[in-house]
Amino acid sequence: MSPLHVTRTLAEDATDAALRADVLAGLTATPKWLPPKWFYDARGSELFEKITRLPEYYPTRAEREILAARSDEIAAASGARTLVELGSGSSEKTRYLIDALTSLQAYVPVDVSESALVQAGHALIEERPGLEVHALIADFTAPLALPETPGPRMVAFLGGTIGNLLPAERADFLSSVRSLLSPGDSLLLGTDLVKDERVLVLAYNDMLGVTAAFDKNVLAVVNRELGADFDLDAFDHVALWDAEREWIEMRLRSRVAQTVKVPALDLAVHFAAGEDLRTEVSAKFREQGVAAELAKADLELTHWWTDAKGRFALSLSVAR
Ligand code: SAH
Ligand code: AVI
Repeated sequence: MSPLHVTRTLAEDATDAALRADVLAGLTATPKWLPPKWFYDARGSELFEKITRLPEYYPTRAEREILAARSDEIAAASGARTLVELGSGSSEKTRYLIDALTSLQAYVPVDVSESALVQAGHALIEERPGLEVHALIADFTAPLALPETPGPRMVAFLGGTIGNLLPAERADFLSSVRSLLSPGDSLLLGTDLVKDERVLVLAYNDMLGVTAAFDKNVLAVVNRELGADFDLDAFDHVALWDAEREWIEMRLRSRVAQTVKVPALDLAVHFAAGEDLRTEVSAKFREQGVAAELAKADLELTHWWTDAKGRFALSLSVAR
C-alpha cells in the first residue's frame, strides 16, 4: 500500500497571522464579519459532516445523486489521470469519481482542515491501494503549488463551496484555478441553485440546531486561538435570504449589549443588543451566471447536470 503524503503549505505561524488579521479586520468593521474558513477546526469539520446528514440540508444528497448518475460521463469527458479536489473535507462523494476514473493515478485533496484531510486520506489509501494520495494542507484562495503528477488534470470543487466566496473573491479564485490547468484539463464545479426561499432558509437553520452549533464554532475557535472570551450562549444563530444578491447569509446576533475581549490582539469589541456578526455567505446560482463567470476565467462550460429535482448542479468546463 502506498503511504499517505501530507504536505503543509500553511505554516502554523502563517495560519495564526492570517486568523489574527481576519479577526482584527472583521471585528473592527461595520457591519462586523468573519470569514467562513475559520469554522473548520476538528469540531467544525465534524459538525459540517453532521449537517450533510440533516433532512433539511439537501445539497450533499443532491450532489451525490448527480455524481452517482454521471461519474462515468465525467470520467469519459475528462480522462483525468490526476484529480485535484479543493475543500475536499471527508472526500466521501469523491469516491464515485475515483471509481469511475479508470486511468486515475493521483488524488490531491486540498483543505485547511488537517483532521479532515488525514482521516479521509488514510481511509482512501486503504480502500484504493495503488492510488497515490498527496494531501495538501493549504488555503485554496492563495496560490497553490501542486505536486508533479501526470496529466490530464481535473480540478473538482464540490459541495457548493464556491458559494462561500464573495463575488470578487470568486473571480480571483476561478482565474487562479485556470492558471493550474493546461489545455484539455478540466474543472468540475458543484453549485447550489436558486430556489424557494423557505427551502433555502431551512437548510441553514435546522430543527436540531446543528447549523447553529457550526456557526457558533467560529467563536470557539477565536476563543481558543486568540484567548477571546466570547460567550457562545450570548449569540443567536440567524439565517437570512438576500433576494437581490441571491445568497444566504449566516449571522450571529448578539442577544445583549456586551463587550468581548480578544487579548492576543489587545482588542475589546463592543456589540449592541441585536447587532449581527456575518459569518458566512452561501451564494446560490443559475446556469447562465455560472457559464458567464467561468467564461470570464477563460473556462468553457461543456456539461451541466442537475439532480432530478433541479436543486443543485454540477458543471464541467475545460481549458482550451
Ligand atoms: N467538499 C466537501 C466538504 C465541503 S465543506 C463536501 O462537498 O461535502 C467545505 C470544506 O472546505 C471544508 O472541509 C473546509 O475545511 C474547506 N475549506 C473552507 N475554506 C477553505 C479554504 N480557504 N482553503 C482550503 N479549504 C477550505
Ligand atoms: C461548505 N459550504 C458549501 C456549506 C454551505 O452550504 O454553504 C457550509 C455550510 N454552512 C452552513 N451549512 C453548511
